[in-house]
Amino acid sequence: MKGKHLLLLLALAGMVVLFFGASINAEECADDGVIEMKNTEAFDSHRMGIVMFGHKQHYTAAPDGYGIACGECHHDDSGQPLELKEGDTVQSCFECHDQPGNARKPADMDREEWETAKLDYYKEALHANCIDCHKEGGAGPVKCADCHPRP
Ligand code: HEC
Ligand code: HEC
Ligand code: HEC
Ligand code: HEC
Repeated sequence: MKGKHLLLLLALAGMVVLFFGASINAEECADDGVIEMKNTEAFDSHRMGIVMFGHKQHYTAAPDGYGIACGECHHDDSGQPLELKEGDTVQSCFECHDQPGNARKPADMDREEWETAKLDYYKEALHANCIDCHKEGGAGPVKCADCHPRP
């Protein structure tokens, strides 16, 4: 009898975990795998049109998607690529690239140093990740209006 109760309890606990796990995921990611890039912590308001980022399309294998490894965009606290699979959780970019607003180069900093230092800004980190790859690969939008639709 006791064993049966314990099993029932464990099964219930499992269901609770599944239920809450699922609800957190549903809140964070859109069903269609498109992320509305509208970080309200980094920007008081958005000057540009909101970027609709085809997240799932980027990591889905070719020919349906672009076949980009998770680690091309998600890395650890020393910048090393993370090995992930669909369903894994990640830290938001803003947790580390945590300077809000527009980057401004301090007058006494040389240009080369600034190239790295400006990555502290969320906006610069995102632009570097997205635009650099599109440029280097010769595919994907690099023009402002091709990512930020005109309002
Ligand atoms: C081309 C870049 C890129 C690739 C490839 C990529 N991601 Fe992401 N991912 C992002 C960005 C950008 C966000 C938004 C992060 C933010 O708002 O801070 C994000 C958000 C997420 C989130 C949180 C939102 C959600 O949908 O739940 C998870 C989890 C995630 N990615 C996991 C993955 C996994 C697992 C892979 C590989 C199967 C992957 N990502 C591939 C760029 C990418
Ligand atoms: C856990 C902390 C952390 C998170 C989360 C994080 N980064 Fe980084 N990122 C770093 C560190 C550390 C570096 C290395 C910086 C350096 O070289 O000084 C880095 C480097 C970069 C670079 C420059 C190097 C390169 O790979 O081209 C870009 C661009 C970048 N991150 C974008 C992102 C984006 C986009 C996200 C979210 C999808 C993200 N980062 C999430 C810590 C983080
Ligand atoms: C490692 C490379 C890589 C990174 C990083 C990357 N992309 Fe792309 N992106 C691509 C490729 C490849 C295509 C497909 C181009 C084609 O086939 O025309 C693409 C296409 C796109 C398109 C046009 C088609 C669509 O899916 O709507 C948009 C918009 C886009 N990317 C936005 C982003 C944003 C926003 C980020 C950063 C959060 C990002 N990309 C990061 C490689 C990348
Ligand atoms: C490959 C896609 C892509 C391209 C091209 C691009 N951006 Fe962005 N941009 C983003 C993403 C993603 C963010 C982060 C938005 C967020 O998470 O809130 C962003 C943020 C911004 C922001 C801060 C938020 C706001 O709306 O005020 C500004 C300003 C901006 N971009 C201007 C530009 C300008 C100007 C250009 C052209 C020189 C440009 N971007 C090209 C993807 C892109």
